[in-house]
Amino acid sequence: MCGIIGYVGQEQAAPILLQGLFRMEYRGYDSAGVAVWSQEKGLQVEKTKGRIQVLSDLLHGGDDMEGTMGIGHTRWATHGEPSDINAHPHVSESGNIALVHNGIIENYMEIKEFLLHQGIHFSSDTDSEVVAQLLEYYYDKSHDMLDAVSRVIHRIQGSYGFGIICSDYPGSLIAARKDSPLILGYGDGFHFLASDVTAMIQYTRDIAYMDDGEIAVITANSIQVYNNMLEPVKKEHQHVVWDVSAAEKGGYPHFMFKEIMEQPEAFRKAVFPRIRDGRVMLEDLKLTTWQIRDFNKIDIIACGSSYHVGMVGKYNLERLLRRPVEVFLASEFRYCDPLVDKKTLVIVISQSGETLDTMAAMREAKRLGGRTLAIVNVMGSSIAREADDVLYTWAGPEIAVATTKAYSTQLAVLDLLGLYLADVLGTVEPEEYDAIVKEAHTIPEKMEAILAKTADIQYFASQYFNHDSVFFIGRNLDYAMGLEGSLKLKEISYIHSEAYASGELKHGTISLIEKGTLVVALGTYEPLFDKAMSNVVEVKARGAEVLALTTDNFREKMEKIADSVISVPCTHQIFQPSLGVVPLQLFAYYVALHRGCDIDKPRNLAKSVTVE
Ligand code: M6R
Repeated sequence: MCGIIGYVGQEQAAPILLQGLFRMEYRGYDSAGVAVWSQEKGLQVEKTKGRIQVLSDLLHGGDDMEGTMGIGHTRWATHGEPSDINAHPHVSESGNIALVHNGIIENYMEIKEFLLHQGIHFSSDTDSEVVAQLLEYYYDKSHDMLDAVSRVIHRIQGSYGFGIICSDYPGSLIAARKDSPLILGYGDGFHFLASDVTAMIQYTRDIAYMDDGEIAVITANSIQVYNNMLEPVKKEHQHVVWDVSAAEKGGYPHFMFKEIMEQPEAFRKAVFPRIRDGRVMLEDLKLTTWQIRDFNKIDIIACGSSYHVGMVGKYNLERLLRRPVEVFLASEFRYCDPLVDKKTLVIVISQSGETLDTMAAMREAKRLGGRTLAIVNVMGSSIAREADDVLYTWAGPEIAVATTKAYSTQLAVLDLLGLYLADVLGTVEPEEYDAIVKEAHTIPEKMEAILAKTADIQYFASQYFNHDSVFFIGRNLDYAMGLEGSLKLKEISYIHSEAYASGELKHGTISLIEKGTLVVALGTYEPLFDKAMSNVVEVKARGAEVLALTTDNFREKMEKIADSVISVPCTHQIFQPSLGVVPLQLFAYYVALHRGCDIDKPRNLAKSVTVE
């Protein structure tokens, strides 16, 4: 949510900043801006409402700005509508300081009042400008920028990643963070600051993650980091394993389509290295056998699609472990006085590892004594670093706002974790354990078989893209999978869509089914297939048009009653949603394509939600 980039080096900064912003546009895309400093021209700022392309056109690709040091920002509006004025960077009243900000300053009203009383004038409605002005207020007193930044971060409440330029400090960028990611990039004669590795991956894979409370002073030749007491801190460097091509479309029309197609490989990378000699090996876990046996329940916490992974996980883990598993929306968990203690295993799922609600819920669970285990895609992200244990999904960068390969790999890792825990607890029969492990090896090929038939799904999308209301219905694992199918459709095609447990329909929702309503009926969960058929009959009787998803072995039966049928290969029950979700992703993709939607950057959304 919002993207920050900073560069200081020997090259012209503006084109590099714009390029970085283009790569981070998925983090927010309602307005953007850059500030570049040079000895001759001083601080130059350009910002505008709209996409990065608008800004780039204004600056002729960056040629209009001179200077080898600068900061840039792409915004997802929180305080103040998307507009030229509210776009970042924000500049202090004297024009001496420029600042970009990710996050939310919760006490900005009170500080703004204070500054207004000091006679300071504001030009925007944002919480971020308040910080730029407060910074100048303190700087004017001490004439020491580091001291001023330190005073600011002790005064403000909320979350922030800051990139700052002060004209009195030629050649130095300043950064500070709390609860909003900031990464330092190291190069030979240049350095970067960014909220996302993708922004600088073309220039460096040598990075360090800033921690909460830290301030960094970044020049072309050095980076010095300080803690919140202004004591120097030595940062551990990390090497990013993927390269720039992973963050590019590579000939595909959209990142979402590319990422759907990458799922077989992503599954292989997430699962295969963790199975050796027929056993699931989770060496990255520090959990002991004794601790595993001591848990009496599991809570899963996540948001959005990651929550839907948790919903599938509930069915699979309860079945494998015979322990209660509860799934919580992270934004609800923190405020529901949760029943967590040291006998609770808390599984936190997050692609980005930066979702604020999820992170806050995880902290609450830790505070209550729960043992936290995070399933995360982004290496070194805040959730990954704070959890007691972390299992990475190794899906590579996911750029499309609508998650696909991250969902699949989260699910795969959660299934593996379930199997691993069941083995320790002795709650899975050896034959079933072997069957699941064996079946895991077939999933990528089965996914490939589904992806080879995208034309069929494209055809169905062309038949149904004009509907303005869709219901996804299913039972058990199909219900959990339907939640994700429905979210995919609504987030990128803007069609109203709901997922219902089929058995619930007759308790109210069936009143909405009328002639022509599209129902996507999910019937891949073999034990309840007959019931799924009955529900199809029920909605057909009320005039619904039914697009059914089932397994190859039930296709013929389903064809007798549904209007259209998609089928996927059969697999072990726990993996059926891993296959079933693929056509649902493709259906959403093609429907959105037919409706002319901006698939990779759907309205009002951002990839990583770092505000509450
Ligand atoms: O990064 P996270 O997994 O924590 O993100 C959670 C949700 O914001 C995310 O899954 C969202 O629902 C997806 N964009 C949906 O496709």
